[in-house]
Amino acid sequence: MDTDSTASAEVEPNAAVQDSPQDDAQSGVIIETRNLSKIYRDFWGRKKVNALKSLDIEVRQGEIFGLLGPNGSGKSTTIKLILGLLFPSSGRVLVFDKDASETSKNEKIGYLPEESYLYKFLTAEETLDFYGRLFDMSGAERKRRVDELIQLVGLSGAKHRQLREYSKGMTRRVGLAQALINDPDLILLDEPTTGLDPIGTREMKDLILALKERGKTVLLCSHQLADVQDVCDRVAILHQGELKELGRVSDLLKVQDVTEVHAEGLSEAAKSEIAQVIERHGGTLRSIDNPTTTMEDLFLNIVRESEARPGARRVSANAESEASTEPEQQEEAGQ
Ligand SMILES: Nc1ncnc2c1ncn2[C@@H]1O[C@H](COP(=O)(O)OP(=O)(O)O)[C@@H](O)[C@H]1O
Ligand SMILES: [Mg+2]
Repeated sequence: MDTDSTASAEVEPNAAVQDSPQDDAQSGVIIETRNLSKIYRDFWGRKKVNALKSLDIEVRQGEIFGLLGPNGSGKSTTIKLILGLLFPSSGRVLVFDKDASETSKNEKIGYLPEESYLYKFLTAEETLDFYGRLFDMSGAERKRRVDELIQLVGLSGAKHRQLREYSKGMTRRVGLAQALINDPDLILLDEPTTGLDPIGTREMKDLILALKERGKTVLLCSHQLADVQDVCDRVAILHQGELKELGRVSDLLKVQDVTEVHAEGLSEAAKSEIAQVIERHGGTLRSIDNPTTTMEDLFLNIVRESEARPGARRVSANAESEASTEPEQQEEAGQ
């Protein structure tokens, strides 16, 4: 579908592009799917894939909602149904209280497709200016908006380079800026971190959180568990087109009946005393240990440290025995 990337731009050219986040978000529900199903049929109308089965979700004003599921679970299909790029086989989608097939709602929606189809020979500035024209923005307004977006997505240093020279991460950021050109109230992001390295991923996640801070509503889909865990308020887990779980991320991930205590500087004596207290109160001590960090935090810390102190190597103390073939690597051991 090569018109995906311009979906949000396919409105009447004279459509007003203004902020009005609250007025039609009655009861705070921005997207509602009711019994939404999609069956893809082949050329002869025969049933081919049952891609989405009776989906019921509500996305509320100002939240980051995640659709999480493995490849082929119906995430992109759901987003396309919300945009009105596909028609449901049964059920309905309401967006801003309008049927998804009403294209006038798209003037308030920004869309980052799974693959952005951008013109390789334009610069970032020219690309965004082009999309601004589709929204019939005046020259002065376009200039202001394009500058603002280029800064927001961190491309100021590369805005005069053609997109064919851009890395995947930079291209993804132009795609996001393009999705935001009309200052939408609702932003749909299809796998926003695809192809990004951990730094690009972290930056994309921070951008998504910044959108929420500006009062935007975001629906994103991803198969990356960490993306959803780090940015989403609520998540719907899809599998083979069916909704399997829906709830607040913090609630879904909470391990009931286990209490976690974090402390610094405890002596061995203090630890054994704590163990005794737990047992005296009828609890069972599972572990007293150093917490582990995530691979993402570890990696980002290493990169930050390396930028601050180029050339220095850091090898974890435990790696010494396994990495002993190159003892000179361990000059920074234990840092
Ligand atoms: N245009 C299409 N024609 C036929 N089947 C499709 C089409 N688009 C997607 N599908 C099928 O529908 C299912 C859901 O696809 P999709 O929504 O793209 O999943 P996801 O985005 O979660 O990876 C998959 O089995 C996929 O192969
Ligand atoms: Mg997809």
